[in-house]
Amino acid sequence: GKTLRVAVIPGDGIGQEVMPEGIACLKAAAKRYDIDIQLDEKFQDWATCDRYVKEGSMLPENWKETLQQYDSIYFGAVGDPARVPDHISLWGSLIQFRREFDQYISLRPCRLMPGIKCPLADKKVGDIDFWVVRENTEGEYSSIGGKMFPGTDREFVVQDTIMTRHGVDRVLKYAFDLAQKRPRKKLTSATKSNGISISMPYWDERVKEMHQQYPDVEVDKYHIDILTAFFVLRPEAFDVVVGSNLFGDILSDLGPACTGSIGVAPSGNINPEGRFPSLFEPVHGSAPDIAGKGIANPIGAIWAGQMMLMHYGYKEAADKMMEAIEVALEKGGPNVITPDLGGKGDCAGLGGHIAKLIETL
Ligand code: NAD
Ligand code: IPM
Ligand code: MN
Repeated sequence: GKTLRVAVIPGDGIGQEVMPEGIACLKAAAKRYDIDIQLDEKFQDWATCDRYVKEGSMLPENWKETLQQYDSIYFGAVGDPARVPDHISLWGSLIQFRREFDQYISLRPCRLMPGIKCPLADKKVGDIDFWVVRENTEGEYSSIGGKMFPGTDREFVVQDTIMTRHGVDRVLKYAFDLAQKRPRKKLTSATKSNGISISMPYWDERVKEMHQQYPDVEVDKYHIDILTAFFVLRPEAFDVVVGSNLFGDILSDLGPACTGSIGVAPSGNINPEGRFPSLFEPVHGSAPDIAGKGIANPIGAIWAGQMMLMHYGYKEAADKMMEAIEVALEKGGPNVITPDLGGKGDCAGLGGHIAKLIETL
């Protein structure tokens, strides 16, 4: 077969700690299932605040041509807010990747995993199992606007939200397609058309229009405020949840938090047409509060690697990785499980444990 070429970019903070575990697990899966994968680790200082402090930029100038030569990007996390403002480090790296590589889908599972004590009362495995589909290239994340009359008492800022028909329709289509493939065939749309009176009614209008092409999919919509409440009060109700860039961002931290830890949550930043590399990363950030301690949960990164294999068609290997993650959570015990899930284990211990399970299960 063809070689799957992956650029590995660990980034800042716990990105540097969780990615070696993700790589070990991918290598274990590749070995067992004879997958021809090349994990290129020469991007050690790309998308790091260290690099920014030394060289004045998060990435070299030719980053796009360089990464374009890969099938995929396997990414850790970025951010060191004590040294570099977050909007500088993120807009200089991850957000550029998403936009320039037209990764317009952010796909984020929320699933209650075995062995995890759910923070919501009386939930069991199977009760929480849905996907957040987040618009990933436009919406509230625009850099169109500015500050006027700085330093005066007339000072103000304005920042535009962009919703193009093309951009809204393509994420809705992806979400409807996904819902249609699932047994429940249910799509929930996040809106706020009561308060945000132009862009959100437009979003609703496009949902209604797109629904006509998917008569077998059941659709409901909630304003984002009550939707966050329903994530906590009745997470069983959700199957596929689609939202704008900002709403999807919020829902994809809340959803995983309702399943025990954001440390286990993965995400795919997908260019479905494959014209550009897609990027797989944990949902979490660089976690400066625990960075350097070796206690980060590596499962978000490992599961992101699993999503990558699934995306490129290596289903058997991906299923085995998922099984290994589940067995580790259920049977690993307190010496293996990391502190975010109540254990006393560490990042390398849990990662190594999962890699071993991938080889032997
Ligand atoms: P964060 O996800 O980094 O951390 C939030 C909390 O969750 C912290 O208490 C952290 O210790 C904990 N946590 C996160 N991942 C964990 C893991 N794997 N195991 C155990 N605990 C974990 O979010 P934040 O604090 O808002 O942001 C910190 C920095 O990361 C900022 O610079 C932010 O901009 C950046 N960030 C980057 C990304 C990304 O690169 N995709 C995502 C979110 C935040
Ligand atoms: C995420 C992160 C990013 C986002 C930040 C770091 C810009 O929170 O991937 O969810 O808002 O998209
Ligand atoms: Mn986020």
